[in-house]
Formats: sequence, structure tokens, C-alpha cells
Amino acid sequence: MIDAVTTNKTEFFRESHHFDTMTNLALPELSAMILQPKRPLRVWSAGCSSGAEPYTIAMVIEEFQLSGTGNRNIDYQIIASDLSTEMLQLAKRGIYEAASIDPVAVHLRRKYFLKSKQGHQSLVRVVPGLRKKIQYYRLNLMDSQYGFKEQMDIIFCRNVMIYFDRETQKQLIHRFKDNLHPGGFLFIGHSESLAMEGSSFVRRGSTVYQNQ
Ligand SMILES: C[S@@+](CC[C@H](N)C(=O)[O-])C[C@H]1O[C@@H](n2cnc3c(N)ncnc32)[C@H](O)[C@@H]1O
Repeated sequence: MIDAVTTNKTEFFRESHHFDTMTNLALPELSAMILQPKRPLRVWSAGCSSGAEPYTIAMVIEEFQLSGTGNRNIDYQIIASDLSTEMLQLAKRGIYEAASIDPVAVHLRRKYFLKSKQGHQSLVRVVPGLRKKIQYYRLNLMDSQYGFKEQMDIIFCRNVMIYFDRETQKQLIHRFKDNLHPGGFLFIGHSESLAMEGSSFVRRGSTVYQNQ
């Protein structure tokens, strides 16, 4: 039922200011945090649809490691979840129409996508090095039972909560807090900011919040 009424619309580098904030604010802070004790950076893309979001996150972390100075050698894991098994299958496959990577900068397209053809269709596939960084799970964000063994450093939950009523949104924000390390970041969709009222997250940018 939920599957039928929600949209799966997604895009690589959607709401691109989030990825600038990730590079310039979240990753510098978090890469220092995960040194003591040394552990992998853990990211959750909740409501990942067909995979553009988790693959964008992976590209951003890879690029962060290659730029600048200091400790940027990050071991990272991305968990991507969705309600729709169909979307999860597409995400796992990592094959897209060539036009869908138009929002990806040319130098990143060359590095992270392989070209392929299927009949007359021009397709691209995410390189294995990125695909292996992401684990997929079917998870209903409306369930109250889920939780992760280890807390996350970054949660993306964008353009999903708009389908939930106010009370469910509040409960979800509460659960995100439980699943985030202190100092971890939460990225939400541009029309979802109001549901943050009354939570103890601190705003660190446009629709970017940090767990206290
Ligand atoms: C509009 S897409 C957003 C995709 C991506 N986060 C983005 O912003 O580009 C919304 C996704 O949320 C998923 N979704 C809807 N209700 C959900 C629920 N209760 N639990 C988990 N995922 C859900 C849908 O299957 C869909 O793939």
C-alpha cells in the first residue's frame, strides 16, 4: 500500500548543497572523531530508492580522501535501506540510463561509472569498488523495532518523511538520534525541516543537523 502511494524519484547529487556540507563540515569533523579509537565511518541512507543517494555519498567520501591534507584515509561503510524491494534490487545492480548521470561532474563520471549498451539503450554501471562499499536492507521506517548494533556517523533521510504524519516524523527523528553517535550528522529533505522542532539536534546548515 505504502509502496503504491509514494514516489521513488531520486537523482545523483540531489540537493547538492548537502554534499558540499558533507565535504566541508561533516567529514572533516567526523574523520577526527573516528580516530580515537580508530573505527570505520558509518553512513546510513534511509529511503535510498534506486541507489543514486548512497552512490553519491560513496563518491563524495572517496573524493574527500583524495583532496586536502591531514588524515583523510577513511575506512567507511554505507548501509542503504528502503521499503521497496524493487528499488533495492535496482540499487544493488547499479545500472542506470546514461542520461541519469548528467548531474555528476564529468571527472567523477569517468572515474566511477563504466559504459555499457543494451540494444539501443546507453547504460552506465557503477564501478565495483563503489558497489562493494554499500550493503542493502529492506527496512520500513514506520516499524518501531529496528536498530543497528553500532551507531551511525551520518544519516541521510531525505524526501521520505514527507509521507509520514507529524507524530510518526517525531518518532522517527527520535530513533535517528538513538542510532547516531554524539556529533553525528543528519541530512533531511528541504521540505522536512519543520519536524525537527523540539528535538535536541543542532542546526549546522540548511536541513543539516548534528546530534548533541
Ligand atoms: C522520493 S524517494 C527519495 C529517495 C532519496 N532519499 C532521495 O532523496 O533522492 C522516497 C523513498 O522512500 C521510500 N519509502 C517510503 N516509505 C518508506 C518507509 N515507510 N520505509 C522505508 N522507506 C520508505 C520509497 O520506497 C522511496 O524509495
